Amino acid sequence: MTSDHTADVASDSLEARARRHLWLHFTRMSSYQGNDVPTIVRGEGQYVYDTRGKRYLDGLSGLFVSQIGHGRTEVAEAAARQAAELAYFPLWSYAHPRAIELAERLAHLAPGDLNRVFFTTSGSEAVESAWKMAKQYFKTIGQPSRYKVLSREIAYHGTSMGALAITGLPDIKTPFEPLPPGGVRVPNTNFYRAPGFVADDVTAFGRWAADEIERAILREGPESVAAVYLEPVQNSGGCFPPPPGYFARVREICDRYGVLLVSDEVICAFGRLGYYFGSQRYGYQPDVITFAKGVTSGYAPLGGMLVSDRLMEPFADGPATFLHGVTFAGHPVSAAVALANLDVFEKEDLLGSVRANEDAFRATLRKLTDLPIVGDVRGDGYFYGIEMVKEKTTRETFTDEESERLLRGFLSHALYDAGLICRADDRGDPVIQLAPPLTCTQEHFDEMEQILRSVLTEAWKLI
Ligand SMILES: Cc1ncc(COP(=O)(O)O)c(C=O)c1O
Repeated sequence: MTSDHTADVASDSLEARARRHLWLHFTRMSSYQGNDVPTIVRGEGQYVYDTRGKRYLDGLSGLFVSQIGHGRTEVAEAAARQAAELAYFPLWSYAHPRAIELAERLAHLAPGDLNRVFFTTSGSEAVESAWKMAKQYFKTIGQPSRYKVLSREIAYHGTSMGALAITGLPDIKTPFEPLPPGGVRVPNTNFYRAPGFVADDVTAFGRWAADEIERAILREGPESVAAVYLEPVQNSGGCFPPPPGYFARVREICDRYGVLLVSDEVICAFGRLGYYFGSQRYGYQPDVITFAKGVTSGYAPLGGMLVSDRLMEPFADGPATFLHGVTFAGHPVSAAVALANLDVFEKEDLLGSVRANEDAFRATLRKLTDLPIVGDVRGDGYFYGIEMVKEKTTRETFTDEESERLLRGFLSHALYDAGLICRADDRGDPVIQLAPPLTCTQEHFDEMEQILRSVLTEAWKLI
C-alpha cells in the first residue's frame, strides 16, 4: 500500500475504492472500468439501499439468503449477545451450547432420521463434506470402491474443487481441470426443453429423467457409485421443479443400488418452497441434506449437512473418526443467529405465509407471459425462473452473442437501474431468477412484475 492511502480514502467514493481493491466473485471486473461498482449500504425489510440512498426491491434475497428480510434487530442482537458470551470455540473435540441447541432443533425439523448435524461455514463446504462423508462411510462399511457422484446437467453445487466436480456447469469447471475424479452427469428436469419423445407428458418426462440416473449407475458400475446429488428445485438453468413421481423413482433407484441420495438444499431449505426442507414439499426422504444460506438469513455465515442415523452408525459405535473439519464451522455467533432466525420463522409463521401467497406470486409473474420475450415462467414457493426466448412458438433461444448483448449488455444494468435486485443468468438458456424474502406480499409481487414488464419490453426492442 502506498503512503497516500489515507488521502485516497478521504477523497474517493466507495465505488472508486471498490474498483481499485475489491475482487468481486463471478464478475467480469473489466465491466466496471468505466462504471461504478453497485454498492449496497443498508437493508430494511424487503428493500436495500445504495450509497446514494436509492431503494431496491431485493428480489433475490441477496443471493437466495435473506429469508426473513433485512434489518432485523432481534437477530443482530442475538449475534452481539453471543459474541460477548462466547465469541469462538471450535467443534473439534468440544461443543458449545448454541451448536448443540441448533443441531437438536434442525434434527427435529428435518424429515425422517436425519438426526445428525455436521456444521460447515458455507454451501460448498456442506456439499464437499457430504461427498467426503459418503466416501469414508463406504470405506468403513467395506465398500471401498464407491466414490463416484451423479449430479444433473447445469446444476450448481458450489465452487471448491470437490463441489466443483459435482457442479454440472462446464464453463466454470474448465479453467480448474483436472478436478477430483468421479463426477458424472445425468439429465436435469427442464420440462420446457424436454426431448421430443416425452415433451407432451410431464410424468413420462420425469420417469425418463429418473431412469437416466439408473442407466448412469449401471453404466458406471453400481459398486463404484457413492451418491446422487439433487436439488429439490434445480436453480441453475432457471428453476426446474421435479416432475410428478420423479423423486419417488429416484429414491427407489438409489435403494436398489445402495446409492446415497443427497438433497442439496442450500437454496431450497428454510422456507424457500414453503417448508423447512424442500424434500418435505415433494415428499421424499434423503439420506443427507446439505444446507447453508437461509439457515441464518445471512446475518452470519453458516452451512452444514443433516445426516441419517444409519450413516452415522459406523462413526458413532466403532473406532472410525470422520477425518474432516473447518475452524469456523458452527461458529457460536452463526449458530445463535440461526436460532434467532428460526424464532422469527415460528413467530411470524413464514412457512404458512409462503404457502398462502405462492399462488398469487405465481399468478402475478405469469402475467408476463403476454410479452413476446417471455417463453416460460416456472418454479414453486418463492423461487422462480423466467426464461427468455427469441421466438415463442418454436422456443428458439438466443445465440451466444445475442445473449451477451441482452443479459450483460442490457438486462442486468437495466433491472438494477429500475430498482430490482434479481439475476439475469445465461449459464443455461437465458433466464431471470427471482427468490424474494419470505415476507413479500402482493405489493412486492406487483412491483417485481411492473419493473420486469417495462425492462423486458425495452429488451425486446434491442433484439
Ligand atoms: C444448490 C447449491 N449448492 C451449493 C452452493 C454453494 O454454496 P456457497 O456459495 O455457500 O458455497 C450453492 C450456492 O449458491 C447452491 O445454490
